[in-house]
Amino acid sequence: MTPPGITPIIRTQNLRKSFNSNMILKDVTLEIPEKSVCAIIGQSGTGKSVLFKTIIGMITPDNGKVWFKDTELTALKPNALIAMRKFFGYSFQNAALFDSMTIGENLAFPLREVLRIKDHREIQKRVAELLDWIELPGITAKRPDELSGGMRKRVGVARSLIMEPEVLFFDEPTTGLDPVLSETINNLVVRVNQELGITCVMITHDIPAAFRIAHKIAFLDQGYIIVEGPPEMVAASGHPLVKDFIRIAFRELPV
Ligand SMILES: Nc1ncnc2c1ncn2[C@@H]1O[C@H](COP(=O)(O)OP(=O)(O)OP(=O)(O)O)[C@@H](O)[C@H]1O
Ligand SMILES: [Mg+2]
Repeated sequence: MTPPGITPIIRTQNLRKSFNSNMILKDVTLEIPEKSVCAIIGQSGTGKSVLFKTIIGMITPDNGKVWFKDTELTALKPNALIAMRKFFGYSFQNAALFDSMTIGENLAFPLREVLRIKDHREIQKRVAELLDWIELPGITAKRPDELSGGMRKRVGVARSLIMEPEVLFFDEPTTGLDPVLSETINNLVVRVNQELGITCVMITHDIPAAFRIAHKIAFLDQGYIIVEGPPEMVAASGHPLVKDFIRIAFRELPV
């Protein structure tokens, strides 16, 4: 595995976020090393997706800061924040492709609408290259409902890659997929990181995969990061909840 950089590409500092009287993020300070794969794990409903949305500016925190390199995102005006989004790609939980468009049109959409590329050939070339890269050549003219769930997931990843982001956020990319497809998607995350040099931040319930592919794991619980570090450090953690999570996740694996 290529070692990731040491400098953080994203930092959060003392993030706090409540919805009504329910405090979801209490004090989240986290560094994501540049060019790493970072996995965020934790129980369902604990605030992992809220943390993602707060980092990319879709949710405004009540307190705390988010940095992308030297830019404090939480200090930016809305337009400046939107302009920063080009550095981020996201592949969200239940993210859907546009059903009425072909796969080619789905992928071309951000190029046309966001990057304002007019050259039809240039668009076609980028779409074809990306479909080759995800090993699904020749599906340009198909519609999403003609693809399997796993293929749609890969196209979803391709769509978030087409803007050439610096950081790619994956919110549960393998949930609902069978083990073989999950492996394909996890391998795709590794390829995005290693071949394209993109920092990948992934929320996952697939604990063995997190331990296999992440350089860093952060365990979110009840509003705090309770354990973080390289997989071997997290595995050695004496924290009872983390120990439980790992024991349950690995117990059913063949030895
Ligand atoms: N926009 C919102 N308004 C009000 N409450 C919200 C909002 N977004 C999230 N929440 C609440 O915040 C809590 C954490 O939700 P979140 O989706 O971040 O959990 P999660 O850790 O991603 O869970 P899962 O693993 O099941 O996806 C939940 O109680 C949820 O209902
Ligand atoms: Mg979630």
